[in-house]
This record gives sequence, structure tokens and C-alpha cells, in this order.
Amino acid sequence: METVHTASWMKQIARDARAQGRILGFVPTMGALHEGHFSLVTEARKQCAPVVVSIFVNPKQFGPSEDLQKYPRRMDKDRDALEALGVDYLFAPSPEEIYPAGFRSYVNVEGLSERLEGRSRPGHFRGVATVVLKLFEIVQPSFAYFGRKDAQQLRILRQMATDLDLDVQIVSCPIVREPDGLALSSRNAYLSPADRRAALALSRSLDAVRKAVASGERNPANLLAALHRVIEAEPSVKLDYAEIVDADSFEPAAGLHRACYVLLAARVGSTRLIDNALLEPNGDQLRVIL
Ligand code: PAJ
Repeated sequence: METVHTASWMKQIARDARAQGRILGFVPTMGALHEGHFSLVTEARKQCAPVVVSIFVNPKQFGPSEDLQKYPRRMDKDRDALEALGVDYLFAPSPEEIYPAGFRSYVNVEGLSERLEGRSRPGHFRGVATVVLKLFEIVQPSFAYFGRKDAQQLRILRQMATDLDLDVQIVSCPIVREPDGLALSSRNAYLSPADRRAALALSRSLDAVRKAVASGERNPANLLAALHRVIEAEPSVKLDYAEIVDADSFEPAAGLHRACYVLLAARVGSTRLIDNALLEPNGDQLRVIL
């Protein structure tokens, strides 16, 4: 595996790969890699060669009072893991490489970026869309892999790719969870042992929705009530939002006849976590995918 630090060298590698008719797969990350990230890499490796993974803690997607400074950074460990997974290139640029002095251009995906995560984290998706567009320009992937864990991010990036005629296929990958249900996240590293136990309320609340659906409940308000009951029983978990939204518009769902997401964000101690379940109509059935 070669580690690349400059945009110009990465572009050259990508141009050469394309010229040889190779299918370049790309997994953008902010590092502190875990099995969730590795699942994207594994998927990319099945479909593409070469595979490029980027590690860049993007300052533009963190708010002024967020955890940019303390965001976990483990470059050596991450590099070893990617090497062992058979990744071809690690793109690890400096902040100045991506945002040189005088940088002024941003991407706003309007109408999908303002609610839910966007309301709690103003400017977050503007930072995400901007960096991902830049990374796509530099890496020039045919396929790019994203986790459904960040469902709103995935929806916004798909919209960006459509609206801006980007020559990249966005691939969605399932949520990887710990055996006890906690969705893997780089931010889980912040959790104390007590917080780690309390954080299980998030996936348990989605499981309560799954059980309610299994027993025939189809009213979004009643499903959310089942979720709230689980969260409220855990005093150290403070819900930021919980909503059932249409999977396309990300507006509150009136019914469940189209694909929907149950989305939630909560603070566990001082750590902010998100999780979701996909509700997918399948004939008369409603599949709940955690
Ligand atoms: P990061 O949080 O490092 O996540 C990188 C990718 O891994 C994202 O597509 C995310 O959805 C996916 N991922 C994280 N946890 C996962 C899990 N438990 N199961 C499956 N996939 C998981 O998301 C970002 O970085 C940034 O916003 C980025 C897109 C890199 C732009 O800076």
C-alpha cells in the first residue's frame, strides 16, 4: 500500500488507473477506523481495483463547539489495518492541502441539509458535501462507498452526485454493530464503561420499534412512542431528535407504505451518537433493518 499526501500525486495515480481501464473504488473516512469502515473497504475490494481509502479529519464539517481537536487520530494503527485489508492507496492529505489559504467555494445541498443532523449541527453537511466533492475530483472514483449508519449524509451525497452530474456510483453499505447492538462509531472511543452500557439504549429503542412493527403496529406516532419509552428509561441518555422520515425526502413520514428511516440522535454523557433503522415495505410485510 502506498500512502499519498498530495492532491496532485493522487490525481496522477487516478488518471493512470483510469487510462488503463481499471475500476477505481473509493472509501472516504476520517480515520480511527473500525469494523464499520472495514466493511466498506471489503465491499470496495470485491468490486474494484485499485481501492483508495482517504483519512482526513475535515475541519469544515465540525461546528465551533464540536470535537475537532479531540477527534481520535490513530494514523499508524489505521495504516497497518488498511495494508492488511489489501488497500492499494491511502490518501492522507494535510488540512492545508485540501483547504489552501484563500479557499472560498462550498457545496450546499438545499432542502436535505437543514433538518435533523443539519439542525443540530449547522453547516455540517455543507462541510461534508464540499470535502466529498473535492475528494471525488482528486481520486476520480468509479464507485464510492458510504455507510447507511449516516443515512442523511448518504442521501445528501447521492443528491449531490445527481445534481452535479458526477461520474461516480454511490454505493450504500449496511450498518455494522457490536454483538450487543451498539452501532460502531469512531466516537464510541469517548464512552466511559458506564456510558457504553447506557449507549445501548439507542439500538434497543430501534429494536423496540422492530418489535412493535412485528406485532402489527403501523402508526408512526405509536412507533416513536415505543422508541421514546426505551430512551426515557435511561437517565444518562438525552435524546436530541427521533423521527420517522421518508427515505427519499427526509420529511416526516405520514405512513409507512414507502421506504422510511427511523432516525435518532442522542447525547450519552458528553458524547453525541446517532443511529437508525430502515423500514422497507415488502409486499404486505414491513421489513425493519437495523
Ligand atoms: P467517518 O465517520 O469516518 O465514516 C466514514 C464512512 O464509514 C461513512 O460512510 C460512514 O457512514 C461509514 N461508517 C461509520 N460507521 C459505520 C458503521 N457502524 N457501519 C457501516 N458504516 C459505517 O462519514 C464520515 O467519516 C465523513 O463525513 C466523510 C464522509 C469521510 C467526509 O468527511
